[in-house]
Amino acid sequence: MPATDIVTVAIDGPSGTGKGTISKRLAECHGWGYLDSGALYRVFAILADEEGILPTDIDKLNNFAATLNIDFKTDSGGYHVYANGRDMTQLIREEGAGTIASKFAVIPEIRALLMGLQRDQRRAPGLVADGRDMGTTVFPDALVKIFLDARPEIRAERRYKQLKEKGFDGSLARLREEMAERDDRDANRSVSPMVMAVDAIRVDTSDMSVEEVVARVEEIVNERLGASGVNTPRE
Ligand code: C5P
Repeated sequence: MPATDIVTVAIDGPSGTGKGTISKRLAECHGWGYLDSGALYRVFAILADEEGILPTDIDKLNNFAATLNIDFKTDSGGYHVYANGRDMTQLIREEGAGTIASKFAVIPEIRALLMGLQRDQRRAPGLVADGRDMGTTVFPDALVKIFLDARPEIRAERRYKQLKEKGFDGSLARLREEMAERDDRDANRSVSPMVMAVDAIRVDTSDMSVEEVVARVEEIVNERLGASGVNTPRE
């Protein structure tokens, strides 16, 4: 099946907008695959950093990438990310991992290195991909493009709550600053910055519950599926 016949839903936006939760729910409901592209950047950056490689050392990063095998698996325990067989799922969720990821993510060569891995995740019958440049760069031909957004204070509070549940003991104010710095780096890098694709639909989730966002996203997806004539079974 040509890649463009595979239903692709691109969900972009900054952190704390509910991208991961919504994307996973959508993928599960339709029986589609799920790609957490941020996890890929996080894994790559953490491991390169562990090896002492700087984001600017392109030769070393190329050699390092050649030894790296990143794998995604969903089982009863949820969505897992492995690097050379090592389960990285917990480690990458720390806020520091997001910050390191965003420093490596500004380097065009690193983005190019990770491109193939992301595109390889597109398999029939469909894929929901979440990130910053899914609709603009990785899957510009996606059938559905959604840009999730929310006010910065709401996003920081959501993230804070999530991290607190995992034992985070930093302050909300500091977290908000870190998120603002990360957004700024993501939105202003020269290659594949975080911008809304011209054909994306923006959903501001600030005053919406998860259920309301899921319902709105479903509505957008179903409209596009209907308009395109693609008929996919729902579980
Ligand atoms: O989505 P998540 O917060 O896990 O992403 C971590 C970082 O990885 C982002 O802040 C961004 O710098 C980078 N990233 C990216 N492009 C993507 C996904 C993530 O640059 N498609």
